[in-house]
Amino acid sequence: MNYEDLCQQVISLSGETAEYILEEKKHFNISDIRSKGFNDLVSYLDIETEKRLKERLSQILPGATFLAEETAAEAEATDLTWIIDPIDGTTNFVHGMAIYCISIALYHNGAVRMGVVYEVETSRAYYAWEGGGAWRDRETIRVSDVQTLDDSLVATGFPSRDYGRLPEYMEVFEYCMRYTHGVRRLGSAALDLVYLAEGQFDTFYEYGLSPWDVAAAALIVKEAGGEIYDFEGGGNYLFGKEIIATNGKIGDAFLKIVHKAFSKNAQAG
Ligand code: IPD
Ligand code: CA
Repeated sequence: MNYEDLCQQVISLSGETAEYILEEKKHFNISDIRSKGFNDLVSYLDIETEKRLKERLSQILPGATFLAEETAAEAEATDLTWIIDPIDGTTNFVHGMAIYCISIALYHNGAVRMGVVYEVETSRAYYAWEGGGAWRDRETIRVSDVQTLDDSLVATGFPSRDYGRLPEYMEVFEYCMRYTHGVRRLGSAALDLVYLAEGQFDTFYEYGLSPWDVAAAALIVKEAGGEIYDFEGGGNYLFGKEIIATNGKIGDAFLKIVHKAFSKNAQAG
């Protein structure tokens, strides 16, 4: 399978889809949303965008299955699966904030092989295919060269549904507030990760995420020279609902902080 070629097709599809979203946005109203669960918003646009993406991706790769945010209850990853988030950053979108994107990854034989994160409002395409490096609009991107946590900028997403591990999360958060350059919460995990891939952030952590939030962007981080783990330092970040991403240079130091907080409280509980 030619992942580079597929990647180019998915970039054009994302660009067309972004134009559709921007056009619809002109008459979008906050009353067009509904809640699909606690703190989990969805609009007709998420649903319609996902439907369009699935139709077009079925033509690009007939036979591939889908694991997509708005129809996830009906799906699971197979040997060949598109993992899609039609709008990552829905809460930002419905409130008129510009930080949201389309995320499309191809999961093939047990791993993500190509990914595209398309930032709708800037028309920027971030993308990677396995072994091909990481790119933003035909330019290669690399993670930062920051060597210590003291000099790092941290991105995160706040727990918004599962508060079970809030004390552990807050312990890491407090560490980052005190001992790094600061913490940012943008509201789109996929964009947090690609911004890390191009060197704006140096580290990222969040729990409670789904595969479609991170699949494409995690590959982009890896291809940009970064590292991704679950909270134990293992590789179960795609389906495991916990993720750390770093520029690689401060990975061990950050993992130690996260691991200390999460394992200590797990033992206590
Ligand atoms: C959300 C965003 C956000 C993260 C949430 C996700 P959605 O995705 O990625 O940054 O903190 O946990 O659910 O709902 O906007 O597609
Ligand atoms: Ca999402």
